[in-house]
Amino acid sequence: MSVVKINVLTVPAEQREVLEQRFASRAGAVENSDGFEWFELLRPVEGTDQYLVYTRWRSEEDFKAWMEGPMKAAHQNGPAGEAPKRPAASGSTLWSFEVVQSAGPKA
Ligand code: HEM
Repeated sequence: MSVVKINVLTVPAEQREVLEQRFASRAGAVENSDGFEWFELLRPVEGTDQYLVYTRWRSEEDFKAWMEGPMKAAHQNGPAGEAPKRPAASGSTLWSFEVVQSAGPKA
């Protein structure tokens, strides 16, 4: 059963563009991670300043292996030796779900 891990990023209005630019130049390493199934960056349209970083994984173990490995490299906050970039998000929370049921468009 797949698991969904959503990183909830609180992003002040004036930091939205910075965050989206950072994701636009993200490492792209997660795509090569074992058991990785899907990634989406969701921008809030109204009523909240929270972006959702949606990821889906084949198993909890696959997610944990990514968090202990490639995730660290993907969050290095800028090239080595350069001053770390100021975080665009003012807060983050991780939500965890198990996929009970799913459906896609009929072929
Ligand atoms: C303190 C908490 C975190 C913050 C502030 C944060 C912020 C960011 C930012 C700004 C990027 C864009 C690339 C960069 O600038 O490094 C990124 C990449 C990413 N983040 Fe996070 N993140 C955090 C934790 C997490 C967690 C817990 C997850 C798990 C769902 C996650 C999932 C991802 C994914 C999948 C990418 C793309 C990596 C790639 O392209 O290989 N992040 N994150």
